[in-house]
Amino acid sequence: MSHLQAIRVGLLGFGVVGSGTWNVLRRNSNEIARRAGRRIEIVRIATRTISKATNVVGDSVPVTSDLMEVVRDPSIDIVVELIGGTNLAKDIVIEALKNGKHVVTANKALLAHHGNEIFKIASENKVMVAFEAAVAGGIPIIKSVREGLTANRIQSVAGIINGTSNFILSEMREKGLAFEEVLKEAQRLGYAEADPTFDIEGVDVAHKLSILASIAFGVPIQFDRVFSEGITQIEQEDVVQAERLGYRLKLLGIATRRENGIELRVHPTLIPNSKMLANVNGAMNAVMVRGDAVGETLFYGPGAGSEPTASAVVADIVDVTRLHTADPEHRVPHLAFQPDALEDYKILPIEEAQTGYYLRMTVKDQKGVLADVSRIFADHGISINSMIQDNKGNNLASLVFLIHQTIEASMQRAIQQIEALDSVQNAVKLIRLETLE
Ligand code: HSE
Repeated sequence: MSHLQAIRVGLLGFGVVGSGTWNVLRRNSNEIARRAGRRIEIVRIATRTISKATNVVGDSVPVTSDLMEVVRDPSIDIVVELIGGTNLAKDIVIEALKNGKHVVTANKALLAHHGNEIFKIASENKVMVAFEAAVAGGIPIIKSVREGLTANRIQSVAGIINGTSNFILSEMREKGLAFEEVLKEAQRLGYAEADPTFDIEGVDVAHKLSILASIAFGVPIQFDRVFSEGITQIEQEDVVQAERLGYRLKLLGIATRRENGIELRVHPTLIPNSKMLANVNGAMNAVMVRGDAVGETLFYGPGAGSEPTASAVVADIVDVTRLHTADPEHRVPHLAFQPDALEDYKILPIEEAQTGYYLRMTVKDQKGVLADVSRIFADHGISINSMIQDNKGNNLASLVFLIHQTIEASMQRAIQQIEALDSVQNAVKLIRLETLE
């Protein structure tokens, strides 16, 4: 073991991930020290819920509610930010960096909104910001894409990167349970965000996708350019119809390189049930990364929860510990590419996206309806892959179409015309579809 002094950590937040980080660091302290080359000690904790922390840590470490006190403590080397949110967390992180401390954070919302600024301040102060836990919980996806796949021109990243929504979709499919009921269970298990609308409305996925895309393509983080749609409109009927057609519904974050720019989109997606991604269930996450040299890779693991996320936090603490004494110029760049080598590729609006579709509509069961609908598709250059008609009684029928890859703007124009037909009874239900080939 090295003669170096222990690295001193200030832990901010003692919730699901904070307490997990404490437990993992304690339990595995010897192994971790053998890997890091020196001991890692949490020397101060700051949290709103002091008693919750003292119940676990006793009087072994001082616990305060004053975050700034810890951030400014000159004896601390690394600040671990696990308080979440964007306002206070931003002030705290910037203050830590300006005080010459490295920061480890699991805060994807913070980085999605302020990452570019935070990384700049970190570089100016010659310190590191590590954020493995911000994307896909325990899966080391940041390190894998940033370092392991560094030889590649990345073509696409597609992932199930929100445990809560994947848990909800899985339970709805497997147990036929109602949406609300499953959401409560996800909250009880500690998967959900403080504001669970972030999970179910696709916002959490968009946060993570904006970070992943930046590392994959060498562009600044651009959360506000991500198209996002959540899972709240998914009905049991769509889950069943998708299954019948050989597909499964997943909330995907997709970043794809096209000739004219980059697509960044989050939405419920039908994927063929033969693909490995379709079989990622519960709170598990998986990210498929395609590179020109490596081909298709898939990273799978727990995307949320106390110790899985702590696994990533502690890995970052070890990484920072090892690089602490390295020349800042020779550290791995925060966003994989050198800060002055980021490109401003165009982020394509959703109208220019190319994807397949599932469409469901209720129509009058009378002659000529199918002909009218298919004529509109043909007029817009849209090609039908397959179609199912179910008679619903009362002279009504449900039509479900799978549509080959097409440009979103053409699809939207066709839907407007279809909805204007007298025979079409309600809004057309649209869910995007990816073959992942
Ligand atoms: N709320 C997130 C999820 C936690 O459900 O995946 C991990 O970022």
